[in-house]
Amino acid sequence: MKIAVITGASSGIGREFVKQIDRAEQLDEIWLIARREDKLKQIATELKNKSRIIPLDLLKPESFEEYKNMLCADTEVRYVVNASGFGNMGDWSEIPNEAQMQMIDLNVKALVTMTNITIPYMKKGSMILQMGSASVFNPLPYFNIYASTKSFVRHYSRALHEELKPLGIHVTVVCPGWVRTEFFDHTNDSKVRYSPKKYSPMTDAKDVVCRALRHAKRNKALSIYGWFTKTQHVLGKLLPHSLIMKMWKGMLKENK
Ligand SMILES: NC(=O)c1ccc[n+]([C@@H]2O[C@H](COP(=O)([O-])OP(=O)(O)OC[C@H]3O[C@@H](n4cnc5c(N)ncnc54)[C@H](OP(=O)(O)O)[C@@H]3O)[C@@H](O)[C@H]2O)c1
Repeated sequence: MKIAVITGASSGIGREFVKQIDRAEQLDEIWLIARREDKLKQIATELKNKSRIIPLDLLKPESFEEYKNMLCADTEVRYVVNASGFGNMGDWSEIPNEAQMQMIDLNVKALVTMTNITIPYMKKGSMILQMGSASVFNPLPYFNIYASTKSFVRHYSRALHEELKPLGIHVTVVCPGWVRTEFFDHTNDSKVRYSPKKYSPMTDAKDVVCRALRHAKRNKALSIYGWFTKTQHVLGKLLPHSLIMKMWKGMLKENK
């Protein structure tokens, strides 16, 4: 049974991956993972491939056992997309420790666990797409934990890309700048002292995902969409982090 597995399928970038993979591929099933079952059911009605709704909270360890038990000897995972994630803004004291740990658990630990469980069911030409961010390129004060989780995803996925080359399994880390999604409903940006003056340029999930799938097919390790993010990538290599952090702080406003 050939399948695609997409976490974060209930909204934004994950949902867009579901739609574009559904349009491009003939699969036995597309597995949709996120907490909000109603949203997943709604998306499933729009798909041509058969789908499986899997309402899981990836902050709960038992969710991974549940996922693992669904995979069986005849399962071939053609795609796994790890798009579940969130980011809170704020300095070290403004984000409660519990929320900081949840960012690490979801953006890092859940992504690695989903990947480890899935790899044994993948074959040559199968694709792993990991959601990074433009924040992978350098440290970001006041968005520190989020950016640090994404830096982990970048390094982890790039090394995995090398490890899986002999098996022909593709690994791509997707690093967009700002993308118009529900992400901004969870940043708490208005409640903290410093937040971006504006979210610009704002890109569309359709374009980011279209480019990412093209890059994954070519087994590119890194997928970057848009001139602004490409510039950030280059500057991240050329300039010292101290200077980039200064430039980032210049893009923030102080909330009264
Ligand atoms: N939007 C941006 O500007 C941007 C830029 C760069 C990278 N990214 C990254 O792209 C990924 C997707 O974000 P998005 O922009 O599409 O935001 P989004 O619309 O808020 O989507 C986040 C997804 O994660 C799922 N999720 C959240 N908590 C979960 C949990 N505990 N268990 C399982 N699923 C959970 C949500 O579903 P439920 O609420 O239904 O569980 C939702 O489907 C994230 O990793 C984000 O960091 C976003």
